[in-house]
Amino acid sequence: MDKNQIREYLEYYRDLGFDVIYRRSTRADYAAAVSPMVELPGLAPDNDSLAAIRNDIGDCRRCRLCEERKNIVFGSGNEEARLVFVGEGPGADEDEEGLPFVGRAGQLLTQMIDNTASKEGIPIKRKDVYICNVVKCRPPGNRTPQPDEMEICGQFLFRQLTVIRPKAICALGATAMKALLNTRDGITKLRGQWHKWNGIPVMITYHPSYLLRQYNQQAKREAWEDLKTLLHFVYD
Ligand code: URA
Repeated sequence: MDKNQIREYLEYYRDLGFDVIYRRSTRADYAAAVSPMVELPGLAPDNDSLAAIRNDIGDCRRCRLCEERKNIVFGSGNEEARLVFVGEGPGADEDEEGLPFVGRAGQLLTQMIDNTASKEGIPIKRKDVYICNVVKCRPPGNRTPQPDEMEICGQFLFRQLTVIRPKAICALGATAMKALLNTRDGITKLRGQWHKWNGIPVMITYHPSYLLRQYNQQAKREAWEDLKTLLHFVYD
């Protein structure tokens, strides 16, 4: 690699939100000292595709989440969608089926998309959008993904978003928000407003699991408002 290629490589990953990039060393003692080393892929290929990304994920062993997963949950929906929803990571039902948002939170998300669209006169359903997660394997006990897991798996999320290049992205909950915006602000501060990921407008809203747990109806009302704003922006 010459200097320009290295600069291009570093800039590419910085734009994607990676703060730290480890250089692979030829010295075995250095490699042993900086464990675990994560091997970053080359620049996203010009002719990248969802199939190529899934192929690159393979039977992934890049982080500890592989140990207890049953299925890798890559994503589902319309591969040419104008709108992509990004969740946190698979739960038990998703791990079982290999598909995102098929459990209780998923049913709520489906209702929210279908009902809001129908009430607002927007002719779309869940099948018309694309849905994926920051991490593709279920964190044990549904714990929050750790920063290194998000960083490793985030490269595949970023490639998915780059390939689909939707008109807007909806980040569901704090993990998706942090992965896309690299922010320390809380979700209550940033939700309901437009942000950007690599030039693509991002709407932040509450995660459906949070809405299921909340007794107070305020968060639900706010999430419905966020979705209305999002759907009108994308489909009007
Ligand atoms: N929660 C998520 O964040 N993603 C899923 O796929 C299911 C539940």
